[in-house]
Amino acid sequence: MSTNWWKSSVIYQVYPQSFKDSNGDGIGDLAGLTEKLPYIKKLGADVIWLNPIYESPLVDNGYDISDYYKINPVYGSLDDFQSLLTTAHDLNIKIIMDLVVNHTSDRHFWFQQSCQSKTNQYADFYIWKDPLPDGSAPTNWGSTFGGSAWEYVASRNQYYLHLFAKEQPDLNWENPVVRHEIYKMMRHWLASGIDGFRMDVISLISKYQDFPNADKNAVYSKSYYVGASNGPRVHEFLQEMNQEVLSQYDCMTVGETPNTNSAQALLYTDPGRHELNMVFQFDHMHLDYGKYGKFSDIRFKMSDLRDTMTEWQQSLDKGWNSLYWSNHDQPRAVTRFGHDREYRIESAKMLATLLHMMKGTPYIYQGEELAMRNVAFNSMAQYKDIETLSVYENFKRIGLDDEYINKSIYLKSRDNARTPMPWDATEKSGFTTGEPWIDFSPDNGIINAEACLADSNSVFYHYQKLIEIRKKYPVVIDGEYQLINENDSDVYGYVRVLNDEVMIVICSFTENKINYILPAWLANSQAALLLSNYPDSPKTLEPKVEMRPYEALIYYKS
Ligand code: GLC
Ligand code: CA
Repeated sequence: MSTNWWKSSVIYQVYPQSFKDSNGDGIGDLAGLTEKLPYIKKLGADVIWLNPIYESPLVDNGYDISDYYKINPVYGSLDDFQSLLTTAHDLNIKIIMDLVVNHTSDRHFWFQQSCQSKTNQYADFYIWKDPLPDGSAPTNWGSTFGGSAWEYVASRNQYYLHLFAKEQPDLNWENPVVRHEIYKMMRHWLASGIDGFRMDVISLISKYQDFPNADKNAVYSKSYYVGASNGPRVHEFLQEMNQEVLSQYDCMTVGETPNTNSAQALLYTDPGRHELNMVFQFDHMHLDYGKYGKFSDIRFKMSDLRDTMTEWQQSLDKGWNSLYWSNHDQPRAVTRFGHDREYRIESAKMLATLLHMMKGTPYIYQGEELAMRNVAFNSMAQYKDIETLSVYENFKRIGLDDEYINKSIYLKSRDNARTPMPWDATEKSGFTTGEPWIDFSPDNGIINAEACLADSNSVFYHYQKLIEIRKKYPVVIDGEYQLINENDSDVYGYVRVLNDEVMIVICSFTENKINYILPAWLANSQAALLLSNYPDSPKTLEPKVEMRPYEALIYYKS
């Protein structure tokens, strides 16, 4: 029943609590988003991915769901949701929802029941294990947000597994009743008119049933990967889900797949296998990991980025890529991969160009189209995110110095992406009339939507043009990807080819002026300029391209 509309779509990610507040309580909501749909339409996005809006105690900002069928009242009512959906559909914008089914909240009815007895009908909804003979946890796995991945419950004299916070117990996918409850819930939302799902940490749902201990030297917070990522039944579960639910609707799916390489990603996305349409890969997010994992002060190397992106472009030939620089779990792209001072505008446009001309479905995270950069908060008290707070505690405990702690948090905190959307330069940024749930970025006076919309050279309009190009030239969707030069240390150039159509994309990652020499097969192609991030780039592709700081060029010939 499904068509491939998701291949030619561009997806805009909305983090609801930080997008637009309609009632002055400082928290973004569904009515606020509905009001701002014309903005997303103007950008040209086809689909909105909405982070979780279900009932939740918000220990992990909604990734801890206590009722899958209810909307968290801070975001509005079911009516507000239906009216969001209708208004979006009227504008030809689809909506996909977050599906968080590796775990629930500890306040979910299932978990409350499961804690009470080893024999009731919910007893096996979660992953319970007896203590080791000395009373300790069943394995040495650490949880993502710190401490052991196991929590003891006296009423059962057992431990339950939580790969994330202890308030996020993992569901037991081995139990068919659990799986069918999930499928029922998915059908409910699809029947209400949504257009698909982004599936939270879906590569973790199937656990190795021998629950192997991790190597003592493994990074503690991710040591559960040995027993929980790409587990023995994950493909079987997704094929079952596909058959029971997804295949019956014209919907799209994107799985978030931590610890998944490109060969495994192909298994998830090969259409012949009937699992998912695409997955979020993490390899390019790991290029600046250091000794302590994500929270490092390392800068990525462009050549590593080019190698990684190229590998994924090429290996998912039969499958499909999702393309992203940032999301609610990552810092701001222009700080991380571009230059967020003198060349903020140029480098933001360059990054957009590089990504949007690749093969796959691009995702734009709210504020990326304004080239928002990381937020320099003055004190730890301004951070809200459970990951940042637990990293801070862990780093303090192991005695890292403050300078390193502050720098790595500034560079990597998820809160960089979670400050309220700056709609205008007024005191409350046009986001709320009250007190925002998290502080505004101090940049809002200069970096905001109103200013971008008023400037025809803004990053916003560059994204708009990229989206138009994707719609106009089939080569962007279906063309083959080829690297131009695998050795250049500053320039990332690639070509897309489809029959007679050739698109040439050349992007500089340096603030120096440099010459980029084209190989013979491109040098005299006579391709014409389609888009660049400087006003006066050469109209025809020259054999020796003089690249200015962070210059990005798209040439085309058919
Ligand atoms: C995913 C979400 C992240 C959340 C985690 C646990 O990685 O994107 O925000 O904390 O899963 O649900
Ligand atoms: Ca509100």
